[in-house]
Amino acid sequence: MSFNIIVGAQWGDEGKGRYTDLMAAEADLVGRYSGGDNAGHTVTVSGEIFKLHLIPSGIVHSKPICLIGGGVVLNPAVLLREMAALAERGVDVGPHRLKISKKAHLITPAHIALDKALETQKGKGAIGTTLRGIGPAYTDKASRIGLRAGLFSDLEATAVAIKKHIATKNKLLSKVYGMELLDVVEIVDQYIGYAKLLQAHLVDDMVLVHDYLKNGRSVLAEGAQGTFLDIDHGTYPFVTSSHPTAPGALTGLGVGPKMVDRVIGVAKAFTSRVGNGPFPCELSGSEAARLRGTGDNPWDEFGTTTGRPRRVGWLDLVMLRHAHRLNSLTELAITKLDVLSGLEEVPVCVSYELDESRIDYVPSDLDALGRCTAVYETLPGWQEDVTGIRRFEDLPVNAQSYINFIAEQVNVPIKYISVGPARDQVITIET
Ligand code: GDP
Ligand code: IMO
Ligand code: MG
Repeated sequence: MSFNIIVGAQWGDEGKGRYTDLMAAEADLVGRYSGGDNAGHTVTVSGEIFKLHLIPSGIVHSKPICLIGGGVVLNPAVLLREMAALAERGVDVGPHRLKISKKAHLITPAHIALDKALETQKGKGAIGTTLRGIGPAYTDKASRIGLRAGLFSDLEATAVAIKKHIATKNKLLSKVYGMELLDVVEIVDQYIGYAKLLQAHLVDDMVLVHDYLKNGRSVLAEGAQGTFLDIDHGTYPFVTSSHPTAPGALTGLGVGPKMVDRVIGVAKAFTSRVGNGPFPCELSGSEAARLRGTGDNPWDEFGTTTGRPRRVGWLDLVMLRHAHRLNSLTELAITKLDVLSGLEEVPVCVSYELDESRIDYVPSDLDALGRCTAVYETLPGWQEDVTGIRRFEDLPVNAQSYINFIAEQVNVPIKYISVGPARDQVITIET
């Protein structure tokens, strides 16, 4: 039996999908525990690229069953499109394979319209959300007026609830935000259609997960977003509305803390962020362009969900140490080491300077974080192409030193290093 958690250690897009895929080979159940289709997880197998937004990345393997957990907010239209696209590529997404927690909350067109309205209202202070209705859906959940996926088991109840929900939101959309009314009849019809297609997938997630654990099976919890997008521990208000941190896996799938075996923190060999908010190590100009890439490669730094260019900067070890405290990482998985090949020197942020003092945490107060400047240590770079390397000792010495430096500074062993997006472009370090 094992319960392992994959968590993003930065601001999302660290490469959680590719490590979920890697570890899914050994898993019996892979469950998404938070977020919704704001996530975009990429899995690359034999040159084929899969971009997953709601369905766990374990789906690309044939063995594990996949669960959309109770902590997730679910847009059924997006899910059905994703299921159809996978089915067309020969991936089994039938009800015996893909399960949906009855506790997951439904996203509706009203949530999406409200996301847009709220962002527009914020103007320059906008969060830069993915406009997928995530915040408004979690708002309804916290207000205890949300619509849970379990509703889909009863078509009549679905019709009544959706009708009431859209009618109520229409008042808000038109009277407060001056937006157009949504078509209640059309949306009710759509959701009845979704209910018919998805009701066979519904499960009680905690019963399923505990059944697996009781029978000695292996469960992998796939995080979405990243530690610094956590609604409590991230750079609030420039965060998402859920708990991407490892504790979110416990509430999101219904598991207690003593069940956890491994917590794998995924971090890029540098830092990226998409959307607004503070970023102490952010680069601009040619240095940023170098890390971001031009967009010609599929792995260049442009959002998987929105296509927006990602903001980029050097690796921030203050963030990774902070992420370790929040997630109790048992190991780190580093991605995109290959992108750093060819640099003369690689600066790494080792602490922040705040009001003339050195600090080793990410301040919760945004003003204070805004006053932080990154203190860098500069490591020598390496010129060699590392994409074909599969053993740590074959990496250029300076690349080895870079990795060792991260492990020492964060005080977490590095278990995996990836040197390209493909499933097999990974160096595993046996400890
Ligand atoms: P996620 O949201 O954490 O799953 O990450 P994304 O899929 O949004 O973004 C990571 C991007 O980096 C994807 O395009 C991956 O294919 C790519 N990627 C992951 N690991 C590596 C790596 O080691 N090297 C390179 N070059 N690309 C990688
Ligand atoms: P994965 O799982 C990167 C960011 C958005 C925005 C903020 C709030 O692929 O790592 P939201 O739509 O959630 O209300 O947006 O969070 N964000 C992500 N950034 N990767 C993600 O997911 C993200 N999901 C949300 O850009 O700044
Ligand atoms: Mg992503």
